Amino acid sequence: MSYPLQHTTAPWRIGVLFSRTGFMSVIEETQYQGTLLAIEEINAAGGICGRELVPVSYDPGSDSAAYGHYAKRLMIEDEVSTIFGCYTSSSRKAVLPVVERLNGLLWYPTLYEGFEASPNVIYTGASPNQNSLALCRHLMDNYGSRFYFVGSDYIYPRESNRVMREVLKANGGSVVGERYVSVHARWQDFLPIVQDIRRLRPDVIFSTVVGEATVFLYQAYANVGLDPRKMPIASLTTTEAEIAAMGFDVGEGHITAASYFQGIEGEANGSFVRKFKKRFGEDASTNMCVEASYFQLHLFAKALEQANTLDTEVLRAMVLGTTFDAPQGTVTVNPNSGHADLWTRIGRANRQGQFDVINQSREAVHADPFLIGYGRATAQAGNVQ
Ligand code: ACM
Repeated sequence: MSYPLQHTTAPWRIGVLFSRTGFMSVIEETQYQGTLLAIEEINAAGGICGRELVPVSYDPGSDSAAYGHYAKRLMIEDEVSTIFGCYTSSSRKAVLPVVERLNGLLWYPTLYEGFEASPNVIYTGASPNQNSLALCRHLMDNYGSRFYFVGSDYIYPRESNRVMREVLKANGGSVVGERYVSVHARWQDFLPIVQDIRRLRPDVIFSTVVGEATVFLYQAYANVGLDPRKMPIASLTTTEAEIAAMGFDVGEGHITAASYFQGIEGEANGSFVRKFKKRFGEDASTNMCVEASYFQLHLFAKALEQANTLDTEVLRAMVLGTTFDAPQGTVTVNPNSGHADLWTRIGRANRQGQFDVINQSREAVHADPFLIGYGRATAQAGNVQ
């Protein structure tokens, strides 16, 4: 007996690389969940071209170099060409040479510092023109122009602060302090920083601290009695996940700019949140990173349905221009850069650990990772109202 069509029902194998252990797991575990939810949903609907998606998953344990190692293993030993993963820019930078050398496709669902556009990456998190510019404008309009920068010590915080400093200065503001801590920082590492903040009295603190250290920064701030109504911590990375880890009372009043919050209105989001809670528990909250991890799988599925091959050249050509009605609103992979056109929102954390949306764009903001179409004036901050 022969099975001439057997190969056409073989599953599509895809790589998944998120840290489910270590100091980044507070957020990357949720990215893993968003990825899994979408895969299960796509498979329940019959797969793609009748073929199931099967994830080949590794846990790099919050070690940036391990992402490069596992990306290589995925592509060479597991013969996988499409990989979904990475939160930190240092982990993306570790995977980049692998996917570029072996012609793979990395789907990256995290906001980052911009100024990169690899033909081997699809970027579905915000770049600075989709979050930093609007955040800077909001903070200057509502709190003042003297900013204090505190960040984890790696590429995203340093580069994100470079952009924020330029925008701030172009609009008459100033940076009154800039401090970096290890990604492994604990509570006591933030004590001299919050003392410095008390002494310098900036109008706002711009945090690019990531992972578990986020919890310690906000707790140290609360412990010295600083008041978010007068001098909030503003961030591009503090989501519902970090707020749950630090305590709702500790997070209350602080500001985050993001494309998505669990609390935004609309049926697409309502349905997404219900499905997420059904799968991962009533207390589980969605966040911007879960959402990007989820919708990028659906963008991939739409493109793969057309391409019917995981060949990177063919698939990428299909991905560019693909649109999906994501929980945040309609998103599109911008063909100019391989970055998604995303919504811009500003949220303030409330006592329930959720964000009240206090500002949002009227439509998705075109991705402009090199800030080509922008001066550094916040008046050009997308179309945020
Ligand atoms: C980041 O490292 N891109 C948050």
